[in-house]
Amino acid sequence: MTDAEALLAVRNVTKAFAIRGGLFKTRIGEMRAVDDVSLTIPAGTSYGLVGESGSGKTTLGKVILRLVEPTTGQILFEGKDLCQLTGDELQLQRAGMQMVFQNPYSSLDPRQSVKSTVAEPLVIFGRARGKELDDRVRSLIATVGLRDEHLYRFPHEFSGGQRQRIGIARALALEPKLLVLDEPTSALDVSVQSQILNLLLDLQQRLGLTYLFISHDLAVIRYVCDRVGVMYLGRIVEEAAVEELFARPQHPYTRSLLSAIPEPDPDHRFQPVEVNGEIGRLALDDRGCRFAPRCPFVMDRCRQIDPALEATGSAHLVACHLYSDGAVSN
Ligand SMILES: Nc1ncnc2c1ncn2[C@@H]1O[C@H](COP(=O)(O)OP(=O)(O)OP(=O)(O)O)[C@@H](O)[C@H]1O
Ligand SMILES: [Mg+2]
Repeated sequence: MTDAEALLAVRNVTKAFAIRGGLFKTRIGEMRAVDDVSLTIPAGTSYGLVGESGSGKTTLGKVILRLVEPTTGQILFEGKDLCQLTGDELQLQRAGMQMVFQNPYSSLDPRQSVKSTVAEPLVIFGRARGKELDDRVRSLIATVGLRDEHLYRFPHEFSGGQRQRIGIARALALEPKLLVLDEPTSALDVSVQSQILNLLLDLQQRLGLTYLFISHDLAVIRYVCDRVGVMYLGRIVEEAAVEELFARPQHPYTRSLLSAIPEPDPDHRFQPVEVNGEIGRLALDDRGCRFAPRCPFVMDRCRQIDPALEATGSAHLVACHLYSDGAVSN
């Protein structure tokens, strides 16, 4: 697949933040929240991004939507480099990609009714007014499973699941092609989680949407996504089709994530891996693999050379020296 055929192609994107310290909060260094990440999402598919807190998932989502400017790299949406667009063209492309946030409690304006929340993007972009606007808002809230009687109510009158439905209706207002869903169900009860996940799957089918689905929960990713990228300290360390990743996880970090799922598959064949310690912070002069300090299989070269993300099977990529010479299998 070429970049032009993919709906979204992220090419070598890095986002560095300044590290500040001392009394005057002067810049004492920088950290790369996203470090040389590339990924491709074909139209109509879901790409899951998984990784523990602080691995850079949200930053990558925001960079893709240009809510945050990348330090380097390219983001191609329908083959066009977003970073090169300005003015009307940028606005048009922006409408084509929207974000749904984790917390339906804080992502909605408490003073706005459902109607004005969902109508706002249409008004700002001048897409509809009067009766047409009214009809469009009614159709959007029906699409997400809410009713006309909800239109004039305010966010505090709704449950978490209903609020997330409002957030999704708003995100759909401009008929986007790509949704970046940042932990859309993490703040919800388990029973409500599955309703929202099913709604998202249904919407994807009906509207032909493409998803970048961010979650720290591999079971959720497995339910929703076609392909999955495992992020660790700003890097994608493994990427594969979802079922392939579950059947043959390779990177020790991926294996540790799968080992931590309370009810692993009865037919899972990989050796469980336990890692200790917390995700660290990468200093600019750090060499070697960023997982080395926590890796139970660490070798000398892991501390010296940063492993590249390379194919180990058909469309299965892993960044780990255990596999770089094909010597070890799990
Ligand atoms: N605006 C910012 N300024 C400085 N550092 C930031 C900024 N935004 C994020 N970071 C840092 O970048 C790293 C990645 O953060 P990010 O929020 O992308 O992680 P995440 O994978 O989404 O985590 P979580 O699962 O907790 O949501 C963290 O170390 C965070 O502190
Ligand atoms: Mg996040």
